[in-house]
Amino acid sequence: MKIAFVSSEIYPFAKTGGLADVAYSLPKALSHHGLEVISMMPLYKTVDREKHGIVETNLEIDVHLPEKTYTFKIYKTKRDVEHFFFYNEELFDRDYLYGTPEGDYPDNHIRFGAFSYAVLEFFRKTGFYPDVIHTNDWQTALIPVLIKDKYKLDIKTVHTIHNIAYQGVFDKDVINQLGLGWHLFNMEALEFYGKVNFLKGGIVFSDAVTTVSPTYAREICTPEYGFGLDGILRAHCHKLYGILNGIDYDVWNPETDPYIYVNYNETSLEKKEKNKQRFLDEYGLADVEKPLFIFIGRFAKQKGIDIIQQSITEMASMNANFSILGSGDKAYNDFFNSIKNRFPNIFVEVGYDEPLSRKMYASADFLLMPSIYEPCGLNQMIAMRYGTLVVARKTGGLADTVIDIDLPAGYGILFEHPTKMDFLRAINRAKELYKNRKKFERLREFVMSLDFSWDASASKYIRLYEEVKFGFPKGV
Ligand code: ADP
Ligand code: GLC
Repeated sequence: MKIAFVSSEIYPFAKTGGLADVAYSLPKALSHHGLEVISMMPLYKTVDREKHGIVETNLEIDVHLPEKTYTFKIYKTKRDVEHFFFYNEELFDRDYLYGTPEGDYPDNHIRFGAFSYAVLEFFRKTGFYPDVIHTNDWQTALIPVLIKDKYKLDIKTVHTIHNIAYQGVFDKDVINQLGLGWHLFNMEALEFYGKVNFLKGGIVFSDAVTTVSPTYAREICTPEYGFGLDGILRAHCHKLYGILNGIDYDVWNPETDPYIYVNYNETSLEKKEKNKQRFLDEYGLADVEKPLFIFIGRFAKQKGIDIIQQSITEMASMNANFSILGSGDKAYNDFFNSIKNRFPNIFVEVGYDEPLSRKMYASADFLLMPSIYEPCGLNQMIAMRYGTLVVARKTGGLADTVIDIDLPAGYGILFEHPTKMDFLRAINRAKELYKNRKKFERLREFVMSLDFSWDASASKYIRLYEEVKFGFPKGV
């Protein structure tokens, strides 16, 4: 079976979040299962061509939009699977992927609309027609629309929603600008409160829609989590599947991670303590006997960053250390910059820093994830792989990957409501657990033995591809 996997970001070439990790590790897992997979993304200015061995091919693709023709040069490299990069200077030679800290680029509809056309033109030009094209998030959601409505190709489509809050909603004039045809501007297709919604198009026109955890699949069908698309999802729920993400066990491995202080595994957890000691020393925190809590993530409302902000005074007076790494919305960046070096037990780094994040996963006792919603979440799986216990809000993929210690076979701490009170109570439960050394150490070993690799989920995607291709339901 031939699969084309299309994403607006792929690790390690370009990454703003978990989508990039998935877009690298899922195709890799699929190819290990014997599928022929190629992946495709725009070639941004920030992609280090030399480092990744990305070379120019002699392929050029013209996309004729009503107002202008865009030419894409195709580049490629091999890293587990073949990756094709689509380069157009005007559209993608910019400092950021989607927008500056001040806001989204105003022509994102043209950027990703033209890219979507270019992907289909690539098939036409190369003769490589996949059995299934797997698209991701709003940036590539027009592809299923174009396949069904314009190109009328016999390629099946699977569209994955990684975060339903981001939908790609634009002025209705986009219909003209992208040459889409006004018949698509209706409630059963792209129209969304008088505008055009790319993600809605992906949901309506693809053969199957997946999201990244079973719980989130249920949640997005409700008004509370659906961001206005719950109705259309309920109407298409017969083709909606929740398949949990995995993490790449080669990329995230405390035994081989080159960035952490001392490598370790579940039989040498005393070395994790060494990481903790060295981390505290390097980042100006004291008292290794205190529990170390970490937060790593985008500073966005989704991640419950307001709850952390509101709880800072209480955290500062706790007998515990905290290390916070992230960046995002300006107001949050400003707040966390303002508390840098203010509290002796709270280390803060505003920025994106993978080596530091790895040291934190390796050194911490607990990872904090007070998310308001969380489609899947990779941090918690990475943390457990590094023997770090998870304190999380019970939502989305967090609810599917963590079992509370008060339940049989539980190994983490979950809280119900996204409030400061519940959050602080959860931290206190973690501190109590930490005092019970025997139990704490047993759980650390236990979480390291859990399997969050892609193995099981890649098989589920393969069954789904077969189902959409051959039409006999096998059940995911
Ligand atoms: P999301 O995609 O919603 O941001 P995920 O949990 O799926 O969240 O994935 C986040 C990924 O990004 C993880 O690999 C995490 O380690 C990484 N990450 C997030 N913020 C930072 C940061 N500031 N520095 C380094 N890595 C980060
Ligand atoms: C999104 C979600 C996150 C998920 C990731 C990868 O960014 O916010 O929960 O893990 O996509 O699917």
